[in-house]
Amino acid sequence: TWTTTNVVEEQVALIRDQVGSKRAICGLSGGVDSAVAAALVQKAIGSQLTCVYVDHGLMRKGETEQVEKDFVAATGVQLKVVDAADRFLNALAGVSDPEEKRKIIGREFIRVFEQAQAEIIAEAAHGEDVAFLVQGTLYPDVVESGGGAGTANIKSHHNVGGLPEDLEFELVEPLRKLFKDEVRMVGQELGLPDEIVQRQPFPGPGLGIRIVGEVTKERLDLLREADAIAREELTAAGLDRSIWQCPVVLLADVRSVGVQGDGRTYGHPIVLRPVSSEDAMTADWTRMPYEVLARISTRITNEVADVNRVVLDVTSKPPGTIEWE
Ligand code: XMP
Repeated sequence: TWTTTNVVEEQVALIRDQVGSKRAICGLSGGVDSAVAAALVQKAIGSQLTCVYVDHGLMRKGETEQVEKDFVAATGVQLKVVDAADRFLNALAGVSDPEEKRKIIGREFIRVFEQAQAEIIAEAAHGEDVAFLVQGTLYPDVVESGGGAGTANIKSHHNVGGLPEDLEFELVEPLRKLFKDEVRMVGQELGLPDEIVQRQPFPGPGLGIRIVGEVTKERLDLLREADAIAREELTAAGLDRSIWQCPVVLLADVRSVGVQGDGRTYGHPIVLRPVSSEDAMTADWTRMPYEVLARISTRITNEVADVNRVVLDVTSKPPGTIEWE
C-alpha cells in the first residue's frame, strides 16, 4: 500500500544503496521539489550531502531566508549559500527582451552553481568522492521530457538546478515516481515547514521575468513589496489552495497619471495574474472576490512608492501564458 512512510523508507534505502560512502550535491531553488528531494537524501546519507543555494537576487520577500534558516533548521542539512545578486544584476543590465533575460539568468546560474560545485569538490577530503547530483525530478517531468521531439518551445524554461549535459555526476532522483501532491505529503512527513511544502509554483528566473522592462535593484525591491502584499492578502483570505499561482508583475516601462495625497503622480502599474489550473499547461483567470482585490489594490498603491495603479489580468492560457515573459 502507498503511504508516505513507505515511500520515505523505500527511497532512503535506495539512496543509501546508490550513493554508498560517496558524497552528493543538491541545488536548492526554494521550491518544493528540490527541498523534498534534498530532505530525503539528507535523511538517507546525512553529512555526505551538501546543498547549494544560489541567491540570484530575484527571489520574493522572505524566500531566501526560508531556505537559509527554516529549511536548514528542519533538516540539519549542510548548506552552501552563494550570494550572486550583484552578478545577476550586472549581467541583466540593459536587457529587456524576455528570452534574452531567461538565457542570461540560466547561463549565470549554471556558472555560479558549477563554481560552487568545484569549491565543494576541492573542500572534500577526497574530491573524487563527490559523485552524485540530486535532482527533484517528478514523474510528470519524466513523462514530458520523454515526449521531446515536436514539443513547441514557447519559452525557454529552465529549472534552477538545471545543468549542462557534459556532467560527470550520477543523478539521484528520489521523486521520479511521484506527483506534486505526493511530493508535498512526503515533505510534510519529513517535517519541512509549510511555507516550503505548500509553496505555489515560482519560475526559476524568478522576479526577473515579472518585470516588463529592464531588471534593476530598485524595480526588484518595488516588485518584492507589491508581491508580498498580494501574497499576504491572498493567504489571509484563505485563497492559497484555490488559486494555482498569482504572479505579480511590474510594468516598469509603463507610466500612467494618478492622483495621490495632494498631488499628481506619474507611476507604474502592477498587474495581478491569479490563475486556476491543474498542471499549468492551460489555465483560467481566477474569479476571485472583489473585496480581496480591493484590499490588495488599496494596500499596494498606499504602501509601495511609485505604484499608482493596480490592474487585473483576465486572460486565460491560451492565449496568454501564466507568466508575462
Ligand atoms: P507559462 O508562463 O509558460 O508558465 O504559462 C507555466 C508554469 O511554469 C512556470 N515557469 C517556469 N518554471 N522555470 C521554471 O521552473 C522557468 O523558466 C519557468 N517559466 C515559467 C510558471 O510559473 C507556471 O507555473
